[in-house]
Amino acid sequence: MPSERKIKKLVVANWKMNPASFADALRMFTEIKKGASRMANVQVVICAPDLYLSGLSELVSGHRTVLGAQDCFYERSGAYTGEVSPVQIASLKINYVILGHSERRSLGEADEVVSRKVSAALREGLQVILCVGETERDADGKYFDTIKAQLESALNNIPRRYFLNLIVTYEPVWAISTHATKEENPADFLSVSIFIRKVLAGIAGKEVAGKLPVLYGGSVDERNAGVYISEGGADGLLVGRASLLIDSFLPLIKSVNDAASHT
Ligand code: PGA
Repeated sequence: MPSERKIKKLVVANWKMNPASFADALRMFTEIKKGASRMANVQVVICAPDLYLSGLSELVSGHRTVLGAQDCFYERSGAYTGEVSPVQIASLKINYVILGHSERRSLGEADEVVSRKVSAALREGLQVILCVGETERDADGKYFDTIKAQLESALNNIPRRYFLNLIVTYEPVWAISTHATKEENPADFLSVSIFIRKVLAGIAGKEVAGKLPVLYGGSVDERNAGVYISEGGADGLLVGRASLLIDSFLPLIKSVNDAASHT
């Protein structure tokens, strides 16, 4: 529930197309679950490849470490080879799905497709982790227009009652570890997150916008994670590379947990 999320910070692990075997996924999930069981201020969402979700779902107990999908299709069922529907995800009792990730957008996913997916997933009762963010940071602030356009397009068709299942992640493409040109910083994230809330207020009303979690993603590791929470005001983090390295990921969760205890 959003009010709980205000207190509990979300740490979303985006495993992308990793690890190479289900045995590795099981081992990683088990270690993360054990580590996170001691962190009362954090909920960890492991977004594993679809192929592993069913097996991993048998290990989920309680709410501290749960599962999410990395994408889903906008139809409920039918002749759509290779796609996975929100209904199928929900049938495994999985509540979260990432949508609009920049790596999907760069494979050709248009704003309109993101919008249909967001609408389908929210209507199915899933919590949607919607990613927005510019590819390049320009000096005259055009990136704000990009973020606004992505939000407005993704959310143009959503009845207000579904908004409380929305989580927005600001993930500037230039800060993602695989092609990072420079680092984002918590103060800048804070100003972008205020802008995001303003746009959300325009779409869903001020009251709803104030309740929606806004996360940060892009080269988050155990060194900077806590600072995004304490100084950046992030409601959580979306973590790629560092979520695959248990020796980084557990200290990262701990630093978020520590930072959350002071917010
Ligand atoms: P990164 O990836 O943490 O490796 O930068 C984040 C993401 O792409 O979701």
